[in-house]
Amino acid sequence: MWAGRFKKELDSRVNDFNSSISFDSRMYRQDIRGSMAHAAMLARQGIITAEDANAIIAGLGGILEDLESGKLEFDHSAEDIHMFVEAELTARIGEPGKRLHTARSRNDQVALDIRLYLRDEIEEIEKLIIGLLEAIYDKAKEHTATIMPGYTHLQRAQPITLAHHILTYAQMFRRDIGRLDDAGRRMNISPLGSCALAGTTYPIDRESVAMELGMDGVAENSIDGVSDRDFAIELAAALSIIMVHLSRFAEEIILWSSSEFGFVTLDDAYSTGSSIMPQKKNPDIAELVRGKTGRVTGSLVTLLMVMKGLPLAYNKDMQEDKEAIFDAVDTVKICLELFTKMFATLTFNKEAMRRAASGGFIAATDCADYLVKKGVPFRDAYKVVGQLVAYCIEQGKTFEELTLEEYKSFHPGFGGDIYEAVDLENCVSRRKSSGGPAPESVVAQLESLKKFIDSRKQP
Ligand code: ARG
Repeated sequence: MWAGRFKKELDSRVNDFNSSISFDSRMYRQDIRGSMAHAAMLARQGIITAEDANAIIAGLGGILEDLESGKLEFDHSAEDIHMFVEAELTARIGEPGKRLHTARSRNDQVALDIRLYLRDEIEEIEKLIIGLLEAIYDKAKEHTATIMPGYTHLQRAQPITLAHHILTYAQMFRRDIGRLDDAGRRMNISPLGSCALAGTTYPIDRESVAMELGMDGVAENSIDGVSDRDFAIELAAALSIIMVHLSRFAEEIILWSSSEFGFVTLDDAYSTGSSIMPQKKNPDIAELVRGKTGRVTGSLVTLLMVMKGLPLAYNKDMQEDKEAIFDAVDTVKICLELFTKMFATLTFNKEAMRRAASGGFIAATDCADYLVKKGVPFRDAYKVVGQLVAYCIEQGKTFEELTLEEYKSFHPGFGGDIYEAVDLENCVSRRKSSGGPAPESVVAQLESLKKFIDSRKQP
């Protein structure tokens, strides 16, 4: 390609080191689409003839078709997808092919391709998150009355319902969609026309190309147009946060599927056995999701480190952006898909949750509140209930199993209505504060989630 300036062939090891086609070939559709729009604009502006533009566009169409059908294969000795397509075009149509790169550089071309590629991926990822939200919605709807202990420090704390617990994850994933929307908006700006870095002397029309590509505007500064990778970093950050959410969710499922908890049973299709221990049923999907969180976060750090300290404008270092962001995208997609399937097919063991809720004195706050209502100052009530819990542990009893005499021996304020006060269903249904676990508050959460899902599924 640069035969004019060089007298020797490139060392083949250097060629391999320099080449990005093994990983940027996946952007072939975006590369071709961008080139078609560019060629059409060049003709509209009278920079090339309409005949040349038509030949270019038809030639590119043929290349696209042949790549899709597998008739044409990528040449792995090419430097990158941009060089490959241009060389193939010129081989096919001759002279007009050599006019395509007028008023353009691979620097603005690659910046465009990645934006177009990631823009489509964001849409796919959002759809996968909606699928997960639907699974969460279905499970939550089924379990608005399933009592379980809510935890702090992984110690049984206060009674909640399973619906309330898992709807927490719906909130996280809704925010994730918001972050993806934001990243997508800032990404959808065309750098084309920035050329190598300093724009061009040709009378190009950048806006019409951007419009044709479905973009919301053009980069205002040509140097920024080719040197910015914020959009990839921002997406990697949003993806890392998604993985952190999936990982927390995965961790709970791993924990809950242990014999110690026994809260969930995984479907056989979404769990694995052990090669030596016949009794084992392992939560591999959840564990891999948790593990791959490190990988996606690693991509974010890679991107930040690649960009750190780069002088303006384009530098070859930036070719390192693609493997990192593509791997993050691929990883998040497969994790969302499989996690959703695993979650949708698992069964919750209500009885085990109920047992855990009964055994943990999680109505202790309610018991103290009971005394407060009888006029006892909260700190005194807190102390009485603490003594009561210590007594129960000693005697191997739960609150429900204590006799009224036993209650009264700790405080004269206890009456027959204490049993109702520490009843777990009552404890939950009294927590009607908005955002709380009472069934009516949870119904409001479910409605809000349903509305959100529906609004995202409008065509
Ligand atoms: N393969 C290159 C990349 O991914 C394309 C841009 C190359 N530009 C250049 N001036 N060498 O960054």
